Amino acid sequence: MQLVRPAEHIDLEQCRAGMRQRAEDDRGSGPERMADDSESVSGAHRLRPGSMSRPTPSARNGGNSIDRPRSTREHDPMPITSRAIDHQAVLDFIVEQQQSPATACAYLGTDAESIKDDLKGLDQPWTETLHISTAEDGRLTGAVVIEWDEELARSWVYGPWMEQDAWVAHGPALLGTVTSLAPVGDHEMYADVAHREMAELATRCGWRHREANFEYSRTAPVPANELDLQIRPATAEDLPRVRALHEAEFPGTYASAVELLDRAGRYSTLVLDDGDGVRGYVAYQHQGRDGVYLDFITVDPTARRAGIGELLITAAQQCTGRQRIELTVDENRAGARAFYEALGFDQVAATRPYRSPRPNMWAH
Ligand SMILES: CC(C)(COP(=O)(O)OP(=O)(O)OC[C@H]1O[C@@H](n2cnc3c(N)ncnc32)[C@H](O)[C@@H]1OP(=O)(O)O)[C@@H](O)C(=O)NCCC(=O)NCCS
Repeated sequence: MQLVRPAEHIDLEQCRAGMRQRAEDDRGSGPERMADDSESVSGAHRLRPGSMSRPTPSARNGGNSIDRPRSTREHDPMPITSRAIDHQAVLDFIVEQQQSPATACAYLGTDAESIKDDLKGLDQPWTETLHISTAEDGRLTGAVVIEWDEELARSWVYGPWMEQDAWVAHGPALLGTVTSLAPVGDHEMYADVAHREMAELATRCGWRHREANFEYSRTAPVPANELDLQIRPATAEDLPRVRALHEAEFPGTYASAVELLDRAGRYSTLVLDDGDGVRGYVAYQHQGRDGVYLDFITVDPTARRAGIGELLITAAQQCTGRQRIELTVDENRAGARAFYEALGFDQVAATRPYRSPRPNMWAH
């Protein structure tokens, strides 16, 4: 599972935890590990001086129309630019594109103010990495922003957001231009699986389609009955058993068994102990005022399909008194998805990260 959220109720901090988690997973042997993980993740590079072009302020001209970008040669159209951009017009364009999973970047939500705040909160000023594409008449047809972390040697592409007709003509150039700003070798963009253009752009540019993340949610009354007698909060004595189950199922993942059992930490962990030992555990966090985010659940392979998983989910609700449970599950966990669906969870989003080829074909 990962800390990523569907666009409708996205929490950028959680989302970024997911982004960074994918970066960490790539370095280790996490559930998302790719077959090509033997490829080395390039170390941090120094920012090339002058590699970021600073847009010049322009007067707002309303709507989505943008000042025609200035070209070094006056009559040479410059469809991709970082200059003379009307930022408010770009924000309006981004907000419009964020309203549908088929055109949205999954790192951002749908609310205009949150989108603005999230862009402002990026590690690199969004106005400095922003590049746009324009039509012959100067109309805005696309926009893209990038953020990077040199320590993780990874960047995250926000967008591209593009008019339907601009994807083929300008998508690769916009993506290539913005990724060349980031002094790192690995780039990621992220969208709902319904976003066909993003998927096609990834294919066109030779980016890898990673495993999709399915997000599930269920709101159900908290069962009134007593907690099952075999279920109790995990203690330090449970560490060897929880660690064995956890590491077998989620090798190298974002939280270790020690963290799951740390009473002062962020996770609450319950175990089911049938008298012969721990058969399964569930680890979760409170989410917002009325929800629970389920981070991990594992049942001993020899004890599956005996109702233990369902008991653990019920127990998480009973212990928190919360009706809503949310979680994310990787595409390859068909059994787990069937389990959640059998328990009445609804799939609320399916998102897919796309990763640049290594080494970065645009880096120079
Ligand atoms: C997912 C998991 C926790 C389910 O635990 P479990 O104790 O086997 O589940 P339950 O016995 O409570 O199953 C309840 C119902 O869910 C459905 N279900 C559970 N596992 C299923 C599977 N592998 N395939 C299809 N349906 C399944 C069934 O309808 C089942 O009822 P039934 O057995 O009467 O048909 C367990 O398979 C597991 O540990 N998997 C590996 C770790 C994992 O993937 N965790 C989730 C990560 S997001």
